[in-house]
This record gives sequence, structure tokens and C-alpha cells, in this order.
Amino acid sequence: MRDLTEEKIAEAVLKSIANTKNPRLKELFTCLIKHLHEFVREVELTQGEWAAAIDFLYRAGKISSPKRQEFILLSDTLGVSSLVDLINGRGPAGTTETSVFGPFYVEGSKILEVGGDLIGDNEGEPVVVLGRVTTPEGEPIPGALLDIWQTAANGLYGCADPEQPEGNLRCRMLTDAEGRYKFTTIKPVSYKVPEDGPGGEMLLAMGRHAWRPAHIHFMITAEGYRPLTTELYVDDDPYIEKDAVFGVRNSLAVSFKRNDSPEEASKHNVKAPFSVVEYDFGLMPVD
Ligand code: BEZ
Ligand code: FE
Repeated sequence: MRDLTEEKIAEAVLKSIANTKNPRLKELFTCLIKHLHEFVREVELTQGEWAAAIDFLYRAGKISSPKRQEFILLSDTLGVSSLVDLINGRGPAGTTETSVFGPFYVEGSKILEVGGDLIGDNEGEPVVVLGRVTTPEGEPIPGALLDIWQTAANGLYGCADPEQPEGNLRCRMLTDAEGRYKFTTIKPVSYKVPEDGPGGEMLLAMGRHAWRPAHIHFMITAEGYRPLTTELYVDDDPYIEKDAVFGVRNSLAVSFKRNDSPEEASKHNVKAPFSVVEYDFGLMPVD
């Protein structure tokens, strides 16, 4: 290995991993080394650029904590999280597409009965969200557990905003005997992903914005089915075509149907004007 050249060095590194026992790990590293070396050769990386990249990753690690994961944000804003989702979320007709998980999920939120309310003291336009959780064939799945979370009117998740009451705008709900769920909430708003770290620096350097279109997060589990992590997006949001983390799918962009009738509103225990979102989630059986 003393006759290394720009062309031969990748081959030498590949030879050095020949004894990797785990076959998948070997496959992953073989491909990674090939692409990484090809990338460095193609752009003819300078030592200054290499040092800047190392420093960037160092700072991304330094700003990360159990409450903040800058590497996930980098993966999100580079479209990698979404690509992994697209590859692993492939399902037959009748199953709901997946979307990014994001960093604002909190375990163990309160259980709300079907028809329950998340609005509480929150400002914002009331929304009734309802539908069913079904098999790909449209058969109801009773007892499916929905975990639901969204931002408040100020664009912040409760877990990232000390001003909001504990557990604000998040809950878990079990579907009823007909596979139905229903809750009242406020219309979500567009918000920015964190910009104050290396992730934000990268967006700025690329002339990009940090906005996500308004959405509600859902994680749905049921015995015998693959867990579903997804989001429902407000289809007329100004950022629907330019999500900073590439999470939007056509099938997940939904219409928030406005209703001005006080009589209709009172049937759902909300004030007019309100809007209604109806959406059925299809789960994929595990084989
Ligand atoms: C979110 O939707 O909560 C989210 C996703 C990716 C990055 C930041 C936030
Ligand atoms: Fe979100």
C-alpha cells in the first residue's frame, strides 16, 4: 500500500474493510466509501474546505442535546430523512404515505376520548379533524392508537415553549369500534425549523428559507400493522410547494373546509367560523 494514487486510494480503503463480518454493514460502507471518494475527487476538495466541513460537523454535534438534534435537522433539510421515508414507506394502494417525524414528538401524552378537545385556551380558528383508521381494503381498525401533535398559534410546539401549558396541543386517542377518531383543535400555522445553529447557517448560505407548511403530526400504531408516522398538511398553505424539509406528499395535502354556520359549529362544541378535515388513514399489515 505504498503506491497509493488519487485513483487507487479508494480501492485500498475498500480492501481494508474486507473482513467486516456484518454483511449489511459491509455493503453500506463499501458504497459509502466509493461515493465519498468519488465526491472528493470530483469536486477536488481543498484542505480549507475539508477543515470547514469538519468544523461544521463538530459544531452540529456541540449544539445537539437530548432536546435538540442538529444532525436530524441537517438530514431533514438535505432531503435525506424524506428519501429514507419514501423508500421505507412504500405500501400498496389503500395505505397512507409516510412523512417526516421531526424532533418535537413527546412520549406519553394525555389520552383523549374520541370527540375530545385540544383547543383549551389556545387562540386560532377551530378545526374538527375526523376520519377512520382502516386496512388497505377499507375495513375499520378498532383500538388503533393515534398519537397527535401540532404547533400553537405562535408556531411553537408546547415542548419547545415554556409559555404553553404542559401537553398543549398533543394527545393520544384510541379509535372506536368503527375505527373512528375525532378531535377538535386549532388550525395549525406555518413555522420555521430551528435556524440558530449550523443547520440554519447552511440554509442561509444556500439562500434557502426555513419554513414548513402548516401541518398536524400523526403516529398511528395497531397490533398486526406497521406503525405509520405521517402528517396532514394544509393544502393552501403558502409553503406547501416549498417545504424546507421536503415532507409534503400530494395525498397528505388536505383541504380544511371552512364552515360559517353557528348551528353546525355548536354540534361540534366549537365557535363559527370553523373548518373540517376528514381523512382516513390506511395501515399496512405486517407479514
Ligand atoms: C416537524 O415537522 O416538526 C419538523 C420536521 C423536521 C425538522 C424540524 C421540524
Ligand atoms: Fe412539525
